[in-house]
Amino acid sequence: MMGRVQGPTRVAILGATGSIGRQALEVIAAHPDRLVVTALAAGARRDALRELAATWNVTRVAAADDDLVALATADDVDLVLVATPGITGLRPTLAALAAGKDVALANKEVLVVGGHLVRAACGGAGKRLRPVDSEHAALWQCLAGVEPASVRRVALTASGGPFRDRPLAAFGSITAEEALRHPTWRMGPKVTVDSATLANKGYEVVEAHWLYGLPYDRIDVVLHPESVVHAMVELVDGSVIAQLAEPDMRLAIQYALLFEHAPSLAPRLDWTRERALHFDEIDLERYPCFAHVLATARGGDLGAMVGLSAADELAVARFLAGEIGFTAIAGVLRRGAELGAGEEPAPTLDDVMRIDERVRRELQPAEARA
Ligand SMILES: NC(=O)c1ccc[n+]([C@@H]2O[C@H](COP(=O)([O-])OP(=O)(O)OC[C@H]3O[C@@H](n4cnc5c(N)ncnc54)[C@H](OP(=O)(O)O)[C@@H]3O)[C@@H](O)[C@H]2O)c1
Repeated sequence: MMGRVQGPTRVAILGATGSIGRQALEVIAAHPDRLVVTALAAGARRDALRELAATWNVTRVAAADDDLVALATADDVDLVLVATPGITGLRPTLAALAAGKDVALANKEVLVVGGHLVRAACGGAGKRLRPVDSEHAALWQCLAGVEPASVRRVALTASGGPFRDRPLAAFGSITAEEALRHPTWRMGPKVTVDSATLANKGYEVVEAHWLYGLPYDRIDVVLHPESVVHAMVELVDGSVIAQLAEPDMRLAIQYALLFEHAPSLAPRLDWTRERALHFDEIDLERYPCFAHVLATARGGDLGAMVGLSAADELAVARFLAGEIGFTAIAGVLRRGAELGAGEEPAPTLDDVMRIDERVRRELQPAEARA
């Protein structure tokens, strides 16, 4: 059989109508000789998806969960950008890897609930699995050419979200609108609320664990409000390698899609402008969700992590709908972890989906279950 003549990388975007999906399309438009989009998927906004498909002349389109796996494994796809939120990305990510596709992974919950499965499928970060999250794209660049034995620890930075300086006594009155106003990044609602509770940064620690095979006690998180330093690697001799860039996801997306540095749409750092960079410790009392994610991850019960993540999806949706307060989210996460715990030590994909469904069901208010 004749192989394909080398041409642009054929990209499928899962989550095309979202923040990452649309920025990925900008990156692809900037590199028409290297990248071409051949498949698009989204969720409920079908009109927006149809519009994108017409603009990009793409006929392979999927809406909601129905055909994500077929789309991610299609013959005319070389690389799948997984940019849906929550557990939706897990099955298509594993299917794409099994079909020999490369995966650019934005969806962090895939590694939170199924990092062991992804690692078993492809090892960690590399050509097959390309991190899109800015901190992990940064780590990937810092670690290039570094012997694993030379790494003492790594550090991910956290902006601290919109409530970094809000008095704790005023947390009870936090509204959805306030939580959706992130100081540095424009993102979808789930990840923005997770950034306000800092559950997101806990997830990023889990991501780093699975992507780079690092034990949890060698992954630090540092508060850094300016979001210019994205990650740092401390070597055994005391040297620290950091990646700096203006906060712009198109840089990380492009690095994942092209698998090398190339001119990009992201703004350059301006060294002529005076600016200070600040670093501080994370206050765990301010961010109980972050503490729960870390404690659950370190506990090593993978089912508990699935339960916590399912609970978080539910809690964020309920908070945005005005059904629970911001400070109630942490308790739901803790309960989700308890409900998910004590299952198989290494859950299969089906186990993960089953635990996720069970925990969601058990967390529903009694009247919704009746
Ligand atoms: N945005 C960022 O800067 C950023 C940075 C790092 C990591 N991430 C991660 O990347 C992922 C996407 O984030 P985002 O900010 O781009 O989210 P977003 O703006 O909310 O977009 C989500 C996308 O996924 C689609 N979608 C939702 N449910 C789906 C389903 N069941 N089946 C198929 N498609 C579905 C949505 O379609 P509809 O429009 O039709 O609903 C939309 O296209 C998240 O896991 C997030 O944590 C994002």
